[in-house]
Amino acid sequence: MLTRRSFLQTTGTVGAVTVAAFSNDGLARVHAAGRRVERLEASDVAADENYWREIQQGFTLDRTIINLNNGGCSPSPRVVHEAFKRYLDISNQAPVYHMWQILEPNIESVRRRLAAEFGCDSEELAITRNASEALQTAQLGIDLKAGDEVVTTNQDYGRMLTTWDQRVRRDGIRVKQISFQVPPPSMNDLATRLIGALTPATKVLHFCHITNLTGQIFPVKQICDEARRRGVKTIVDGAHAFAQFPFKVSELGCDYYGTSLHKWLLAPIGTGFLYVRREHIASLWPLQPAAEAQTDNIRKFEEIGTHPAANHNAIAEALSFHEGIGGERKAARLRYLRDRWAKRLARHPQVRLHTSFDPEQSCAIANVQISGVPTGKVVTRLWDRWRIIATPIVHAEFEGLRVTPNVYTTLEEIDTFAAAMEEIAAKGVG
Ligand SMILES: Cc1ncc(COP(=O)(O)O)c(C=O)c1O
Repeated sequence: MLTRRSFLQTTGTVGAVTVAAFSNDGLARVHAAGRRVERLEASDVAADENYWREIQQGFTLDRTIINLNNGGCSPSPRVVHEAFKRYLDISNQAPVYHMWQILEPNIESVRRRLAAEFGCDSEELAITRNASEALQTAQLGIDLKAGDEVVTTNQDYGRMLTTWDQRVRRDGIRVKQISFQVPPPSMNDLATRLIGALTPATKVLHFCHITNLTGQIFPVKQICDEARRRGVKTIVDGAHAFAQFPFKVSELGCDYYGTSLHKWLLAPIGTGFLYVRREHIASLWPLQPAAEAQTDNIRKFEEIGTHPAANHNAIAEALSFHEGIGGERKAARLRYLRDRWAKRLARHPQVRLHTSFDPEQSCAIANVQISGVPTGKVVTRLWDRWRIIATPIVHAEFEGLRVTPNVYTTLEEIDTFAAAMEEIAAKGVG
């Protein structure tokens, strides 16, 4: 019979990989890999496949499919998912004790660490179940009266636009949606359009830090500073921004910020946060009512009734995994992967990219169209022939495929996608 040691000796490299996949030392491996490259520039590490192989092995994926929709939500690394399951198991022993008494209070550690990563005070950050809940708290919680105006864009997230639309019907506010070119001629063009749309009736300006449709990054600080000067409150939809590329809230200057954590932070599904600038906490109504004594307390936005502690507590492991890679290195790799497929496809005469290559304006997310082939058909062909998942974006003013790789995506997967797109561009889907 083989001992564990002799089994590893006979299986050599394959055995080593097997051990990596089944052991729970994910964070240690990420940190060890980081130490090996700590003297290198992020842009050099971006192309270091030995480093990224370590990261790829931190996930338990179905590699028979090529998942290029990490923008929807992302699989968690194994170490995060294990923590999530562990907390569920602990809770289930006696939820009223283990979940409420033991696990729930530790949400404060998560708040503190998220606030440090975002660069705000922990008393300004509420943990939510997703970006929708965070943003809707701001959208529905600000006092507005009939005739007050909200300015946003027609490329903001559908649910957020629907939320404003309900306030139009319910409260008689007015909403102005501006449009913009993809990609825009410059970042300044975006600022000019949004600022130019403000009127004396405008009370709120709501826009994306990075859009989900094409991955366009906005000049948030420039826009928020001007809005503030005019007495307009800013809600920034950062669903895709947090942990995709590094920044601090001081570089944004917004009043309210909502993000998902199950996208780029790789936290469990059902996690997000809301930032509220301290001076606005008291005047913002929570989605679910809270006691008057909590008026000034950021925790009033977490009064959501019974909910699992596992989701929000396992955010801590996701933060550790993220810190182990490092925000700069992660963003550099995501741009490297994006460039690898997008620059190759951009050479094809039938391909149109709706995303700029300028690193100030984009990161992991890009949108590509094959002229003459309906996007829905491209998506179907990619899935049927190559088992590639990408997202069809059909907007009134443009259409294309949204492609969002992640830190676990391999070069082989990226190249298979690029080759598949070349074949569709050359031969159609006929
Ligand atoms: C720009 C944008 N805002 C908000 C959301 C809502 O996020 P969640 O599903 O976490 O509520 C999404 C989701 O994809 C999004 O892309």
